[in-house]
Amino acid sequence: MRYFRASVEAMTGYRPGEQPRPGTPVLKLNTNENPYPPSPGAIAALRTLDSEWLRRYPDPFAKEFCQAVSAALGVPPDWILVSNGSDELLNVLIRACAEGAARPVVYPTPTYVLYRTLAAMQPAQVVEIPYADDLRLPIDRLVQASGALTLIASPNSPTGHAVPLADLRSLAAQLAGVLAIDEAYVDFAEGSALSLLADFENVILLRTLSKGYGLAGLRLGFGIAHPQLLSGLFKVKDSYNVDAIATLVGAAAVRDQAYKNDCANRVKASRSRLTAGLRQLGCTVLPSQGNFVLATPPVPAAAVQAALKARGILVRYFDQPGLRDKLRITVGTEAQNQKLLTELKPLLAERPNASEAPNLAEPLAG
Ligand SMILES: Cc1ncc(COP(=O)(O)O)c(C=O)c1O
Repeated sequence: MRYFRASVEAMTGYRPGEQPRPGTPVLKLNTNENPYPPSPGAIAALRTLDSEWLRRYPDPFAKEFCQAVSAALGVPPDWILVSNGSDELLNVLIRACAEGAARPVVYPTPTYVLYRTLAAMQPAQVVEIPYADDLRLPIDRLVQASGALTLIASPNSPTGHAVPLADLRSLAAQLAGVLAIDEAYVDFAEGSALSLLADFENVILLRTLSKGYGLAGLRLGFGIAHPQLLSGLFKVKDSYNVDAIATLVGAAAVRDQAYKNDCANRVKASRSRLTAGLRQLGCTVLPSQGNFVLATPPVPAAAVQAALKARGILVRYFDQPGLRDKLRITVGTEAQNQKLLTELKPLLAERPNASEAPNLAEPLAG
């Protein structure tokens, strides 16, 4: 007797990035958190919570939060579905749309590794289509794959590139199934695909408070789409998927757009300086529209990651084809980026000591 479905037995569980307890003296540049704290308004909202908020079930539709998003983004409140992080919404989408080989989940690679894991959990059939070397969206092949659900992260992780709006529009127009545009990093990007929603009922945008709003610990995300598309998703989400604390704190954070934009602008300025600094040390760095950069060091990436870890700096290494020579580095504060560059300099000047490089990489995480 085995306990699990064959697909669960066969799948590899998701390996999240290393999350040391807050207060641990490490420089954490491995999971793309915002280096700045959440809005003071969000912390003030947290302090107003009394036990009644905890005694009662939360609003199943997080209406207060939807109102805040509606005011901030100019979309009607009934075009918003709130989720326990955008990861939950990805799961809801796959659960609602995918079924067997006839209704696959389709996405270009490399991208957020969790897509594959969530599909394996259903199980859903996956069609992965590699990006071309120039990272142009393989529109024709994506269309041919006829996904029930096509997932495009833009800006993408780990590459940091944003897909041109014209390409997303072309894809949306040609797909019969749902096109989910994962905009987790939109706050650090030059644009958004929000304008597509008015023209395409099959498009949903995924947003999160984990990155731009500095609230990864809160677990709050949301989708924006035509109510007709949301109606199917509401059927399969957990009834109380977002807790009372997240709704209240998240709404306050979203009301403070000025603070979020200020932090994002600081991160963007630091991203340029970090990119230049890494290039000066001999790394190849892709231009990024996220709060991270993908760098190819001139010496083996896994060894550099391990050596940095030994010095208390966490960056992300992906043990995956096409990424084994690269590191994904979250943009920190100016001081944090400077510390990283200072520690990197001697490591990149010569091959890191082999004794520092054993098996410390974090494989297959997104
Ligand atoms: C592309 C992408 N989408 C979604 C997420 C998950 O966001 P959340 O914290 O809202 O679940 C991440 C997290 O790193 C991500 O990189």
